Amino acid sequence: MNDAVRDRDVLLVVGGGIAAYKSVMVARELVKRGARVETVLTRAAERFVSGVTFAGITGRPAHTKLWDPAFAGERHIALSSRAAVAAVVPATANLLARMAHGLANDLATTCLLATAAPVVVAPAMHTRMWQHPATQANVALLAARGVRFEGPVAGALASGEEGLGRMSEPEFIADAIARALTPQDLAGTRVVVSAGGTHEAIDPVRFLGNRSSGRMGYALAERAAARGASVVLVSGPAAVPAPAGVEVVRVRSAREMADAVLAHAASADAVIMAAAVADYRPSEPAREKLKKTSDELVLRLVKNPDILAELGARRVGVRPMLVGFAVETSDLLARAKEKLLRKRCDLVVANHADGAFEGDDNEVALVSADEVESLPRVSKRAVAERILDRVVKRPREG
Ligand code: CTP
Repeated sequence: MNDAVRDRDVLLVVGGGIAAYKSVMVARELVKRGARVETVLTRAAERFVSGVTFAGITGRPAHTKLWDPAFAGERHIALSSRAAVAAVVPATANLLARMAHGLANDLATTCLLATAAPVVVAPAMHTRMWQHPATQANVALLAARGVRFEGPVAGALASGEEGLGRMSEPEFIADAIARALTPQDLAGTRVVVSAGGTHEAIDPVRFLGNRSSGRMGYALAERAAARGASVVLVSGPAAVPAPAGVEVVRVRSAREMADAVLAHAASADAVIMAAAVADYRPSEPAREKLKKTSDELVLRLVKNPDILAELGARRVGVRPMLVGFAVETSDLLARAKEKLLRKRCDLVVANHADGAFEGDDNEVALVSADEVESLPRVSKRAVAERILDRVVKRPREG
């Protein structure tokens, strides 16, 4: 989510309310996330906060006037055409009313009427103004036209009272702006992602593990949620923090992972097995810590359930879509193809064992029954997006 605004043009319209001081923090957060921010202040906004503040933060002069001899061309058209998203922070009752009725009597409302970009509004006003039927009718009209509302929330108001009407926090507003820039093409889709490695107990303090960091699976879960999916992340031990907005089920061993994945797969539209599941486990983990009493120690291993193969065998029809990973040291594409057929999945993400684990980027090929798409070396996040593009285009029943 944090990356959605990187290198994007955000038009920040600041309305005239006391919450305008917090729009400075929104500008700062957007700049921190890599956005280019153009600020437009209404006349009333200038009473609360200065254009100089925004210029200092965004590195671009703030705009206030529709008519400015120093600006060649039509300022409102230039600003509104360039914007990938427009945000109104704070949106006063007056601004909402002008937007709802298509008034264009200053630079801010002219830009909002001229833009084809998604619009996010963060209202802030006294509870009675928010609840007034006129405001509520305007809100309903704007929402029906696709304007996205972030807040208001309940809390302390400028009047000293408590109530609904307080502006949402700057970070949440920046998140809402990021969401508006992210296509919600997985909305209504249930995705199960497995990630991380597994730990197979040798004794109460030792295990057999592998080098998986969990980064690929966590990136998949994070991006799927950002694109609107409801996501269950079944995670073995991993080195990265859990992404926001996903349900995390923590497991340790392959057998625990099998139970969790198979249980959640029943209602899933897609299952993505990014976890590095141990193929074998010690047959009888010692109950007590092993002591170094002999020069040699032999561990007997038995096979773990193959979760992906089990999902493939159980599947009737095309749901859920199954995505597997193949990490190989040689014959990558041939082995990936063989895995695709043997485990009866729809897509295998083939990557070479070199650099597949700890790094932030990866070079993979997407192998399906009828094509092999080789991707250049890109971030794991970008790989995740390409895999999820395939989930969007998954085979559907009938
Ligand atoms: N996988 C799984 N359960 C296992 C082992 C692997 O679900 N017990 C999944 C992995 O999550 C991955 C895919 O299967 O998506 C490929 O795993 P890999 O270990 O490379 O394949 P194997 O079936 O073990 O094949 P081989 O050992 O022949 O390479």
